[in-house]
Amino acid sequence: MDLRNKLSIACDIFLFIFTALIDIIRSFFKSLIPRKYRCKKINNEIVLITGGARGLGRLLSIRLAALGAHVVIWGTNETGIKKVVNEIKSLNGKCTGYVCDITDKQEIYKTANIIKKEIGNVTIIINNAGIAYGKAFVDTNDDEIEKIFKINIISHFSINKSFLPEMMKNNHGHIVTISSIAGLIGSYNFTSYSATKFAEVGYHKSLDADLKIGGYDGVQTTLACPYYFHSVGLCPNVKPRFPAALEPNYVAEEIVFGILTNKKNVILPGYFGLFIPFIELLPRQSYIKVMKKICDVDATMESFNNTSNVNEAVANTCMSI
Ligand SMILES: *[C@@H]1O[C@H](CO)[C@@H](O)[C@H](O)[C@H]1NC(C)=O
Ligand SMILES: *[C@@H]1O[C@H](CO)[C@@H](O)[C@H](O)[C@H]1NC(C)=O
Ligand SMILES: *[C@@H]1O[C@H](CO)[C@@H](O)[C@H](O)[C@H]1NC(C)=O
Ligand SMILES: *[C@@H]1O[C@H](CO)[C@@H](O)[C@H](O)[C@H]1NC(C)=O
Ligand SMILES: *[C@@H]1O[C@H](CO)[C@@H](O)[C@H](O)[C@H]1NC(C)=O
Ligand SMILES: *[C@@H]1O[C@H](CO)[C@@H](O)[C@H](O)[C@H]1NC(C)=O
Repeated sequence: MDLRNKLSIACDIFLFIFTALIDIIRSFFKSLIPRKYRCKKINNEIVLITGGARGLGRLLSIRLAALGAHVVIWGTNETGIKKVVNEIKSLNGKCTGYVCDITDKQEIYKTANIIKKEIGNVTIIINNAGIAYGKAFVDTNDDEIEKIFKINIISHFSINKSFLPEMMKNNHGHIVTISSIAGLIGSYNFTSYSATKFAEVGYHKSLDADLKIGGYDGVQTTLACPYYFHSVGLCPNVKPRFPAALEPNYVAEEIVFGILTNKKNVILPGYFGLFIPFIELLPRQSYIKVMKKICDVDATMESFNNTSNVNEAVANTCMSI
């Protein structure tokens, strides 16, 4: 490398540091503005939400419809979908439901085309549907592994291919990925789930780079990584020792706020964003002590697997779609 090249790189790095400082100061002042003045309007948007008939998906659907968006729900349980569609309509919201098994990419492409004809261009996608298996690595069978990858991550690609070209053409849209704290940190008896959630983090980051470097500054991406929440969704009975499970309504509110303000990451609870890099730096023995002694992941997984009051859960599997 000649001197000229070196100088040009040094110059770019210096310029980068300078503009990054300005960006940091700007976002600090932005964060002081009250929430309601920072939110974008979504009353002309069409929102597709997978797994929208249950759990977190339902809570997000209700909130987004209340803000005027046309909410399109995908799920596998026709009765469940109809119930939520009627619930939203009774609140004067716009909502349409489709049965779509997202393990089948042909079904995704087919349903996507129907939506384009019947409703229009989807402008916000919320990849929310997910399943989890709480079991030891050696006990996870091949069918389960394929299924969890198809639902939790491979479906994002087929859905992306179905709607992103229009978003890019119109330079307008938003892709929301619902991952998990398990996508930032390795947990116990959770290998298949954690692997798909880490994959979602990679998907989000790389898609964001594709769009922003490609000049599509009007297509936003948001990654949500919530910690366990109770009562609804994947693990309604979970009772982690520390920190305690979150309130599902808090999780839904924060994700909606993140969408409305085009946040890049929504880590819940927020302090995990600082805490996770720190525990990753700990020596392995200390890391295991945090997981075993402070968080008591053994007991957490026992309560995760407590299906005694979830009628639709199959033994040690909690479904959210
Ligand atoms: C489908 O949804 C209905 C209504 O919410 C619920 O009662 C039923 O248990 C669900 N079925 C399955 C298989 O999840
Ligand atoms: C969807 O977006 C495409 C690409 O910009 C545009 O040609 C088409 O008219 C849009 N459809 C609707 C219903 O707005
Ligand atoms: C972890 O999984 C193994 C087998 O799948 C099971 O025997 C063990 O009880 C699980 N641990 C907890 C705390 O659920
Ligand atoms: C998403 O789809 C668009 C358009 O088909 C494509 O250009 C892009 O590479 C895809 N990205 C991912 C991460 O699938
Ligand atoms: C399992 O759930 C039942 C009913 O909610 C509860 O009484 C029991 O304590 C739970 N067991 C564990 C290990 O969390
Ligand atoms: C989880 O709970 C179910 C039902 O209570 C039980 O049949 C299964 O063996 C448990 N699995 C593990 C891994 O503990």
